[in-house]
Amino acid sequence: MGTPTFRLCLVLICCACSWTEALQEPTVPTQAPAPAHAAAAVPPAPTQWRGRNYRPHHATPTLAPTAAQHSEIKQLMTNLHDRVGILATLDEDQRHRLEVIDKKLDQLLDSNTGRMESLKAQQLNFQQRLDSFEHIQRLTRHTLDELKELSRQTRDVPEQHMDLFYRTESPPTTQGRSINGTELDVASRLDALATFLVSLAYNVKETQQGVAKLLQNTNNIRRRLANRKTQSAQLAQGVPQSVAPVEEHATSCLQSYLAVNGILKLQLTPQSDAFYVPCQDDGWTVVMNRSSDDVSFERSWLDYKEGFGNIAGDFFIGLDKLHALTSSSLHELRIWMQDFENNVAVAGYDSFAISGERELYALSLLGRYQEHLHPPAGDSLSYHAGAKFSTFDSDNDNCLECSCAQRHKAGGWFNACGTSNLMGVHYSKDYQRAGETGIYWDTFQGKDYSLRRIKMLIRPIGQDEARR
Ligand SMILES: *[C@@H]1O[C@H](CO)[C@@H](O)[C@H](O)[C@H]1NC(C)=O
Ligand SMILES: *[C@@H]1O[C@H](CO)[C@@H](O)[C@H](O)[C@H]1NC(C)=O
Repeated sequence: MGTPTFRLCLVLICCACSWTEALQEPTVPTQAPAPAHAAAAVPPAPTQWRGRNYRPHHATPTLAPTAAQHSEIKQLMTNLHDRVGILATLDEDQRHRLEVIDKKLDQLLDSNTGRMESLKAQQLNFQQRLDSFEHIQRLTRHTLDELKELSRQTRDVPEQHMDLFYRTESPPTTQGRSINGTELDVASRLDALATFLVSLAYNVKETQQGVAKLLQNTNNIRRRLANRKTQSAQLAQGVPQSVAPVEEHATSCLQSYLAVNGILKLQLTPQSDAFYVPCQDDGWTVVMNRSSDDVSFERSWLDYKEGFGNIAGDFFIGLDKLHALTSSSLHELRIWMQDFENNVAVAGYDSFAISGERELYALSLLGRYQEHLHPPAGDSLSYHAGAKFSTFDSDNDNCLECSCAQRHKAGGWFNACGTSNLMGVHYSKDYQRAGETGIYWDTFQGKDYSLRRIKMLIRPIGQDEARR
C-alpha cells in the first residue's frame, strides 16, 4: 500500500524539481501553470533535446507568467513539497517498521543457526564418544570373556592338583572344592557386569537417537523461519499478494508443534474451512485410522465425500479434505498395518494425490513404491493407480458386470476390484477367512486375511527432500 504512494511521490518530486529549475531559468521558455497531476507532461526545454526526438525549434507562442502567477506557483510548489514530505515520512515509517521486523527475524535466524551449529558439534562429539565407548565396551567384553575362561579352567583343574594348590589354606577333606563359592561368585558377577554393559550400550544408543530427532526438529524450525524471512522480504519489496497471514495457520502436521494432544487444526487457505486432523511423529497426518468395528466403512458416496467417524479413534477424513490436502502441496503416502499376531508392516509411496469430485476423486497420483521401508508390506496399491473412487451407490470401478464396492462392502479406488481393500469390513473373529469383504493387503497377509489395525498417513514432501 505504501509503495505505490511512494513511487507517485518520487515522480512528483522529480517533476517538481525540473519545474522549479525551469522557473529559475529566465532564458528558458516556461509553461503556464498546470494542475499538479499534469506536471509529468511538462516537456523539457527544447534546447536541451539532442536525441533522435530532436525537432527544429518552431516559433511556438509561450506565455510569460505574471508576478502574481509566479508567486501562486511558488505557493503551490511549497504546498506540494510539504505534502510530498509528509507522504514520504509515512512511507519511511512503514519501511522502518518492516526493517525492524526483518532485523528481528534475522536475529532469530542467526541465534538459531548458532544453536544448530553447537548442536551439530555436540552431536559430532557425542558420536566420537560413542565410538570410543563402543571400542572400550568391546575390549571390556573381551577381557570379561578371558576372565570367564580363566575361571572355568580353574574349576576344571583336577582335584589332586587343587589339593596341592590349596594345601596350606584348606584341609584336603573338602577335596579342593572349597574354592567353588568364590569362583561361582566371580562368574556371576562377571555375567552381571556384561549384562550391565549391554544395557548401558542400549541406553547410549537411545540417547543418540533422541539427539538426532532433536536435531531434525531444530532443522524444521530453522526452515520455517527462513521461509518466513523470505515472505517478509517480499513484503518489504511490496509484493503484498504473497504475504503470510499474521495469525499462524497450520497447513500440515509439519507444524505439529501447534497441535494439542496430537490433534491439529488445519487451515489450508485463509478462505477455506478449518478442520481437525491427528498428527503423528515426524510430520505425518493421519487420514484414516481403523482398529475396531466401531465405525462401519460400508458407506455412501456422500459419507465418503464428507468423511466420518471419530478423529480421535476410527475415522476417514473424507475425500474433499484429502483432495484439498494433497493438492495444496505434494504429499507422500504411507500405510501402516498390523495383523492379529501383532506383526506390523508398512507400505510407502513417493507421492500421492487424488482428484476432486468432478473427476470422481480418482487416485490421480501414486508415486514409486518405497522399497527401503521396513518391515515391508509389499506393493498392493499401484494396481489401483488412476482408478476412480466407488461406493455402493456410485459405481466407477471399470467392472462391467459387477459393483466392486458392493462386493467388497467398502468404498475404494477399485479397478475391476484389486489387490487391497483398506476400507473393508473390520473382522475380529474368523479374520483369517474373511474373504474379499475384509480389510486386506494382498502382499502382506493375502486377500483372505482381514487385518486388525491400519492407518493411512500423508506428509508434505519438503523442499529439502525434493531437491535431493
Ligand atoms: C561347593 O559346592 C558343593 C556342591 O556344589 C557344596 O556342597 C559346597 O558347600 C560348596 N562349597 C562351598 C565352600 O561353598
Ligand atoms: C487410532 O485408533 C486407535 C484406537 O481407537 C487410537 O488408540 C489411536 O489414538 C487412533 N489415532 C491414531 C492417530 O492412531
